[in-house]
Amino acid sequence: MNDVKFRSTKEDALVSLGALLSSYADLQTQYTSRVHMPDFRTFSDTWESSLYLPIRNEITAVLKSRTFVVGDSLLYCAPGPHTPLLRNVGDGGIAVCFDTITLLDIDDEALRSAKQLLSLQDLSAKIDIAALDLSGPFGQRLCETYLAALRSAETAEQVAKHLAPAHSLASSIFSDVEQVLAQLTERFDTITGGRRYNCLLSEMIASFTGTAVWLAFRSALYERFASKAPLEELDACLSAGTLLWQLYNEHFLSFHLDFLRGQTERDGFIVLVFDTCKVYDLAALSSLPALRQDTFVLDALKSRQLQIARQKTLCWRDHPNGFDVNLYGIPVSDFQAHTHDVELYFLEAASS
Ligand SMILES: C[S@@+](CC[C@H](N)C(=O)[O-])C[C@H]1O[C@@H](n2cnc3c(N)ncnc32)[C@H](O)[C@@H]1O
Repeated sequence: MNDVKFRSTKEDALVSLGALLSSYADLQTQYTSRVHMPDFRTFSDTWESSLYLPIRNEITAVLKSRTFVVGDSLLYCAPGPHTPLLRNVGDGGIAVCFDTITLLDIDDEALRSAKQLLSLQDLSAKIDIAALDLSGPFGQRLCETYLAALRSAETAEQVAKHLAPAHSLASSIFSDVEQVLAQLTERFDTITGGRRYNCLLSEMIASFTGTAVWLAFRSALYERFASKAPLEELDACLSAGTLLWQLYNEHFLSFHLDFLRGQTERDGFIVLVFDTCKVYDLAALSSLPALRQDTFVLDALKSRQLQIARQKTLCWRDHPNGFDVNLYGIPVSDFQAHTHDVELYFLEAASS
């Protein structure tokens, strides 16, 4: 694809997200098919060498150091359509270590593709799929919070005002976290028959999936106000929206750890992979941390008695070639050359 066509495809993809802000599930499907997978196909080698291969190597090293027994099971959260961590390259891959593999994703179609891909590897493992929203109602509520700000406002200034109490908005999204955890666990147990897993792999790359919602909010904001409001007002809206996204990511991370922990077999372990900061090559562009507080992850692990058995920081080279695109006439730097800092944690229950 030539540069001009690629650029306009990216622009169209961003615009298309704005129209889906009312549905978290549709938004995720659109994000995967119009943003994530086209990027994966374009930057396949770079992604493979800077992200997927190092993750697989780390997991293989851990699996080799443990004695696995017949019946061992793997839960893979958010594999997308191409299950990148179960690709069979090198010495047989990760999938051969398990007798049962459950793929869990919100996107039913992606799960079917992923299962189909795995079937080409001729594995002896039984592959189950579970279409489930790992955020319960929280992702949808994040969408609705942004939508409410846009709908109730006559001006961009009012949008920023609506989003200003970001801490209380985020807390209210997660106000019933314990009930939701119980419901999600029950739903998943109904699908799996209450199985518990030896290895749980969660790779919800793109900041725990709040990213698609943040992008949709920005598209909807620009569609409505780009021609009416000064740039500073739009920037103020985005800053307020970004803080809400970061706080959402923190709440979701805690919730997700609780869910994973509840699905873990005694002596099992969790592999958690997520991007913590988007860093542009151009120093003039501010980096974008996914979480608000530096110590958040360590505190969240400590309070759950989860200990880090191994940790690795990766540098995912996402977009190697930079260019600007315009969204409703406003330049956005999303596709300037950048990397993501990615944290990879191996977690196990601390012995009491
Ligand atoms: C950016 S893609 C990453 C896919 C794959 N892990 C990879 O690295 O290519 C994010 C994945 O998370 C899934 N996802 C997003 N929100 C989810 C949710 N709330 N529950 C379960 N899966 C979700 C999407 O459907 C998609 O497959």
